Amino acid sequence: MAQVPLDFLGDLRRTHTCGQLRASDAGKRAILMGWVHRRRDLGGVLFIHLRDRDGVTQIVFRADGDPAVHAKAELLSSEYVVAAEGPVVLRSPDTINPAIPTGEVEVVCEKLWILNESRTPPFPMEETVDVKEDARLKYRYVDLRRPHMQRNIILRSKMTFAVRETLTNMGFLEIETPFMTRSTPEGARDYLVPSRVSPGMFYALPQSPQIFKQLLMISGFEKYFQIVRCFRDEDLRADRQPEFTQIDLEMSFPQQETIYETIEQMVVAVCKAAGYSVPVTFARLTYAEAMRSYGIDKPDLRIPPFHCVEHLFAGQNLTAEGLPLVAIHIPKTGALSRKERDELKAFGQERGLRVYDDVKRLERDYPEPMAEVRKRAGAGEDDLLLLAGWGGEPKGKRPDETVLLACGQLRLYAAQKYADKHKLLDPQNLQFLWVTDFPMFEWDEEEQRWNAAHHPFTSVHDEDIDKLTSDPAHCRAKSYDLVLNGVELGSGSIRIHRRDVQSKVFAALSFTEEEARKRFGFLLEALEYGAPPHGGIALGLDRLVMILAGESSIREVIPFPKTAKATDLMCDAPSEVPERQLRELGIMIRKS
Ligand code: AMO
Repeated sequence: MAQVPLDFLGDLRRTHTCGQLRASDAGKRAILMGWVHRRRDLGGVLFIHLRDRDGVTQIVFRADGDPAVHAKAELLSSEYVVAAEGPVVLRSPDTINPAIPTGEVEVVCEKLWILNESRTPPFPMEETVDVKEDARLKYRYVDLRRPHMQRNIILRSKMTFAVRETLTNMGFLEIETPFMTRSTPEGARDYLVPSRVSPGMFYALPQSPQIFKQLLMISGFEKYFQIVRCFRDEDLRADRQPEFTQIDLEMSFPQQETIYETIEQMVVAVCKAAGYSVPVTFARLTYAEAMRSYGIDKPDLRIPPFHCVEHLFAGQNLTAEGLPLVAIHIPKTGALSRKERDELKAFGQERGLRVYDDVKRLERDYPEPMAEVRKRAGAGEDDLLLLAGWGGEPKGKRPDETVLLACGQLRLYAAQKYADKHKLLDPQNLQFLWVTDFPMFEWDEEEQRWNAAHHPFTSVHDEDIDKLTSDPAHCRAKSYDLVLNGVELGSGSIRIHRRDVQSKVFAALSFTEEEARKRFGFLLEALEYGAPPHGGIALGLDRLVMILAGESSIREVIPFPKTAKATDLMCDAPSEVPERQLRELGIMIRKS
């Protein structure tokens, strides 16, 4: 690193931020502090763009200025940290920079302090420059200086503030729950922490505060929330991190409606803080309706639903008897090429579908049903219209659902590939949706048993309670998901508050009483001490910020995220630890 004589900050204070000065400030003196964003040398006149969190201001070192200051300015390079003092002056009309809010003025530097130098940054600060993610993560502290990361992290802070403000105003208490605990039932693998004082024993980091928030309801706090880190060892994707943040809440004596209203109010406020205006109530679909119209449990409402039209073709040879025949409509794709239509067919075929893409021919062969299909779908001439039905042998437990799921995938594929994405999937168009009444259980083919679709503390619908052991496949849960533009934003449920019902659910899940006691004994016991009816939800904060920031990965809104392999490239974690530390913990590493 170049050795530049550095100045002390001393008692110097900044008078303005780098985003603050306007034409009306002309004539004032300013002391600004920040990083050298860009430097230009125009034949004796030096300009630097000085950047701080708030923006950029041009500092000018005139040719006729103090030669000592000028000489010092000559030493400046990208990302040096400086303080500059001088009068604020109006720029001449031809040098006004409309691209920045401070573009009408500049500060004529009369005093300059070089507070720190910088090595040449590993990549440019401009957001227009594409930088490899590995480099960004290794030098995250530099990456975080780039304007879009600054915007995202500032947005995140505004949004968490709005969460705290609205929930506190609604009477919720922010209460912390432990990180060093025991396994929680969210279905992923745990991150374990070995205990030194109890050799051979491990804490588990919480996958969610689920059990603790239920205990807080039993403790009488009535309305709890927490913006809380959760830990899950699972396969990572663009919207999954091993540690992520939930907006977690729980209420006593709620109706499902109470929870919807609370979340709607909070989410609307959070969206407002992020500059979006959204309707105060969200759309709703039951799980069964979502499957029947979208073939997915987290529909993106920006894309039209599909229509089950098998009844219009009764007796025709288009589909296997009784299975759904689906009309998929994607607006404004224009006519697809032969190759594109073949791609769609191949995509469907791989999922067991037969895709009828030749609509002209279908309209010739089945004029009346097809006229009705076009009417129901509301499909115009410039839109894509397809029929899809089961093409292979029905297999699996519920062939209807298999067809619908495959059609749901085909619908998304076609929309993402062939629609005018900018219009159809406009990220500014926020479509919130509650999906309700999920099945209580999911069949685990491998283990040949029922698993809880949400988690084992979820209430069953009152009218389905008698089916818990006799007909688990048709038990509906008092559970709900909040979906935003096809992303699962949150999940919650009304909980079981009665010990006898909890036992029945554990029995349906093939837990013996002993197993249940071993894993969740303290909760079961707590249910025996006056547990009130309660329920709640947790939203993924990272996902919400990602969508409102217009990003497609949560890594863009987390200051220090992990890679897809759950590593931290900056700190080089996880890492080996000294033998002594392992010995203290009673741990021996098996290398195989
Ligand atoms: P669930 O497991 O559905 O429910 O999680 C709630 C929400 O948390 C977010 N989320 C994640 N975000 C980023 N990375 C991950 N690995 C990750 N896993 C989950 C999602 C998800 O919708 N205790 C229950 C909630 C309740 O019943 O109140 C729970 O944790 O946005």
